[in-house]
Amino acid sequence: MTTVATLSPTLVENLGRCRAPASEACTLPPECYHDAAIHQLERDAIFRRGWVGVGRHDRWATAGQFVAVDIGEVPVVVLRDAEGDLQAFANTCRHRGAQIMVGEGECTKLRCPFHFWTYGLDGRLLGAPSMHETADFDRAEHGLISFPVAERFGFVFVSLESDPTPIDEWLGDFGVPHAPWPLATLVTGRRREFTVDCNWKAFAEVFNEYYHLPYVHPTSIDDTYHAPDPPEPATGAYATQFGTTSGTGGLLEEDQHLALPLIETLGGRNAEGVRYSWLFPNLMIAAGVEGMWMYEVYPDGPDRSRCAQVVCFPAETTQLPDFAERAEHYYERFDVAVAEDIPMLEQQHAGLRSPFADQGRFSAGLEPSVAAFANWYATRLLEA
Ligand code: FES
Ligand SMILES: [Fe+2]
Repeated sequence: MTTVATLSPTLVENLGRCRAPASEACTLPPECYHDAAIHQLERDAIFRRGWVGVGRHDRWATAGQFVAVDIGEVPVVVLRDAEGDLQAFANTCRHRGAQIMVGEGECTKLRCPFHFWTYGLDGRLLGAPSMHETADFDRAEHGLISFPVAERFGFVFVSLESDPTPIDEWLGDFGVPHAPWPLATLVTGRRREFTVDCNWKAFAEVFNEYYHLPYVHPTSIDDTYHAPDPPEPATGAYATQFGTTSGTGGLLEEDQHLALPLIETLGGRNAEGVRYSWLFPNLMIAAGVEGMWMYEVYPDGPDRSRCAQVVCFPAETTQLPDFAERAEHYYERFDVAVAEDIPMLEQQHAGLRSPFADQGRFSAGLEPSVAAFANWYATRLLEA
């Protein structure tokens, strides 16, 4: 595993300004959003250490379903094995290194297309043609390299570390503020992938702040959202902020009468708002009154983000006869909002790339989760 390179004294000083409460902290140094060397530092410190989200449990609904992912520029294949357990393997052949699996789909074995070395869903090398003359060749020594994988609250996480911080310690008390929502059992209604020409952190940030709503979403969703509650303390690699809404945050203002049923377990204020949470580094969720919508974000270099929008509901909601039709209004709301965010993010990226860009300050009430992430990110880089 790569060791994290040394940070410049200037970067150390600038990151230090992020390690404070939102009211006192500075925003992340602009160079963190575009500089190639810093991108490598964060690849090592943020994506090759700790836990990284790879999506919802039902991306791997049945045995043999696999997804080839990129975690910190490491090709990884995540799959559900014959026993129904999730597995993550280095997606690199043990013969001469070809990437084995591409895209996603179903398989009974993993077969490298180059010379047909074939691995089981448990990573064992099952077959290697024409190797009988090779001295001391032992298939048992050439299985796929395995990574820790964990599922919590219906989210799947992979770590490239052999002995990472235990996942429950990593997530800290995430379960406490999210207890009213049945996150573990929600099922995916739609998952949609796209790319944005901005740094992955900026994409994540815009989903976790209320500040831009009146300016970027004035006619679509702004009137739905009230001023958010003060941020709650979080122990663990996440930030969260709840806010009440007029109607549901999951629909456009003109579609409020089309709301799907309330999640049964919700009561009181939880039945009248949205909890926005960021599972550091790359999963951002909104737990609403009838479901949950979320984004996964993966860096594709410093200047481009690969994103997935995922919309989930309780299984009983998805069984309603008119679910497909009604869910379309939810998908439209998320598509409209993100289509309003994307041009702004690309414009932000253009500004951040300027040599005259400098660290800014946060609105403590409207951007506390962004400040919490900056603090966490700076700490991970400085203490890597
Ligand atoms: S590189 Fe995979 S079988 Fe040769
Ligand atoms: Fe937005």
